[in-house]
Amino acid sequence: MVNFNNDFLVKEIKRRLSIINLIEGYTSIKKTGKGYVALCPFHDDHTPSMHVDEEKGLFHCFSCGAGGDMLGFYMRYNGLTFPEAVSDLAKRANITIEKSTPPVKGDSQTSNLFKLNSAVSGFYHRVLLESRKGGSARDYLEKRKIPSDVIEEFRLGYAPDGWDTLVKFLKKHNIPPSLAEKLGLVVKKQSGDGYYDRFRNRVIFPICNVEGKVIGFGGRRIKESDEPKYINSPESEIYHKRKNFYGLDSSKDHIRKNKRAIIVEGYTDFLSLFSAGIKNVVATLGTSLTRDHVVTLRRYTDRIVVVFDGDESGVKAAVRSLDIFLEEGLLPGVVILPEGSDPDSFLAEKGTEAFYKLIDEAPTLLDFYIDNTVNEYKNGAVTLNSGVKEIADVLVKVNDPILRSSYIRKTAEKLGLGENEVLSLVRRGKVHGQTGGVKTVKAHSNHEKLMLNILLTYPELSRVVAEEGWEGCVSNPDVMSILEEIIVKGVHDMSSLLLSFQGSAAQGLISEALMSSPGISDGGTASKMIMSCIKKLKLAKLDERLKSLRLSINDAVKNKDAELEKRLLTEYTDLRKQK
Ligand code: GTP
Ligand code: MN
Repeated sequence: MVNFNNDFLVKEIKRRLSIINLIEGYTSIKKTGKGYVALCPFHDDHTPSMHVDEEKGLFHCFSCGAGGDMLGFYMRYNGLTFPEAVSDLAKRANITIEKSTPPVKGDSQTSNLFKLNSAVSGFYHRVLLESRKGGSARDYLEKRKIPSDVIEEFRLGYAPDGWDTLVKFLKKHNIPPSLAEKLGLVVKKQSGDGYYDRFRNRVIFPICNVEGKVIGFGGRRIKESDEPKYINSPESEIYHKRKNFYGLDSSKDHIRKNKRAIIVEGYTDFLSLFSAGIKNVVATLGTSLTRDHVVTLRRYTDRIVVVFDGDESGVKAAVRSLDIFLEEGLLPGVVILPEGSDPDSFLAEKGTEAFYKLIDEAPTLLDFYIDNTVNEYKNGAVTLNSGVKEIADVLVKVNDPILRSSYIRKTAEKLGLGENEVLSLVRRGKVHGQTGGVKTVKAHSNHEKLMLNILLTYPELSRVVAEEGWEGCVSNPDVMSILEEIIVKGVHDMSSLLLSFQGSAAQGLISEALMSSPGISDGGTASKMIMSCIKKLKLAKLDERLKSLRLSINDAVKNKDAELEKRLLTEYTDLRKQK
């Protein structure tokens, strides 16, 4: 969480440095009538789409949506974490951070959690390498061809069989087991007092954040009959599987140097590639890819190849990830391995060169998606109509107009349609939103953004908005969390607000709202406008509810469920009255 010192330091940096000078160091920027425009370095920009506002200290790209303050720019451009960026820019601004100043970020509770994880990782590592008990795990890793330098670099370990190995270790070092419980390392006994070890007879993969601190663990069974195959740390104050990758701390420099990142699905896949010298790789942590993952990785490169296992769930996962990438303005390559392979087994069977070939020749995820849908149509799994619509719905989300029209052409060719037929569907999608009913969602989203915009300029309206019950009517989760920060937590100062969303896509929403200011002249107008926004959002929600009620009532009538019909009708008439 933001603490006073962070806040102070960041403000001091911003006071001393100019965002214009900073950005000028990385891309060409020029003055226009109202302010500055620059070629956006975060996407392939041909006309200057990035606007920079010196007075507000913000940048925003109106093409790819990247935005934030100078720290946000610096972090993203250089692929740095927040503390790294603060420390660099503080140096540049000639601010000496006094020794007595607590370290940037983190309080003593979280630092204790990190310390404990580090101690436990060291313990498991020593057990693997030095103890007699570690023999079976050493054999296992040898069988899986993970060399000793990789075991060393990734601090792999072994949690011995038995219920209290770690519990005893904690006791010996006077570490309260309740702290270890917070990290899911030990579990409270159901009956009686005390705790038992979570990881038993498993190879341990410590999971680190980008700064190389251990945040959690993965444990793989050695005995095939043990279930489940993997046990992973539960979510904790410091471990969020939807935000972190396995291995990024070791691979980030390789990713930057290679200007490409490979995403795989498992610890062992990661380690096989890394051992084979393919080091620009990261692995997700037993969850599908999220937007936070993409935002994190984009700090290092925008060229990404995602590798999925050769089975049905691999294809499904690939399709699901498309939206996330498009929302972030990225188009990755995709490799679906041959049936039954994963990266680890493919590498063992076919070798490094063959793997590189797959990566180099990977089609884009969009090509893959279109081909996949076209095949579904050819197999009769979907009709032509719904197939084209599905593709058009995705093409709507492609921001780059040149790219979009080239894919429209490809789609038309593959389905034997005229280009105009596909184009008109995409156009319709652009006006109406993606699918039936999304028209209202689009309108919502504009009102939500306007609300954000007004509140950012007039944060004193928070109280009024809070009293109006805004929570029920906002749908965009990013807008929701920004509003929460302003209204509930009372963060009214821009710099602190951006600080709360460091490294997150939400920063782009804040800069967008601030830089496309509707120029409201006074608080009175602002207040009227924000009330009207809330009213419209509420009405839209009400309309949605009414619509779904009508459908349910029809169903109830069809099913001759008189009681349900009556209940729904009462709700319906009440809502109509409200409206
Ligand atoms: P190996 O069999 O050791 O080669 O692992 P793999 O990486 O080939 O396994 P798989 O593709 O099945 O799983 C990929 C990732 O999903 C793993 O690295 C784990 O993070 C996660 N995972 C797999 N199986 C389980 C499980 O049984 N439970 C949990 N919680 N996660 C799992
Ligand atoms: Mn495997």
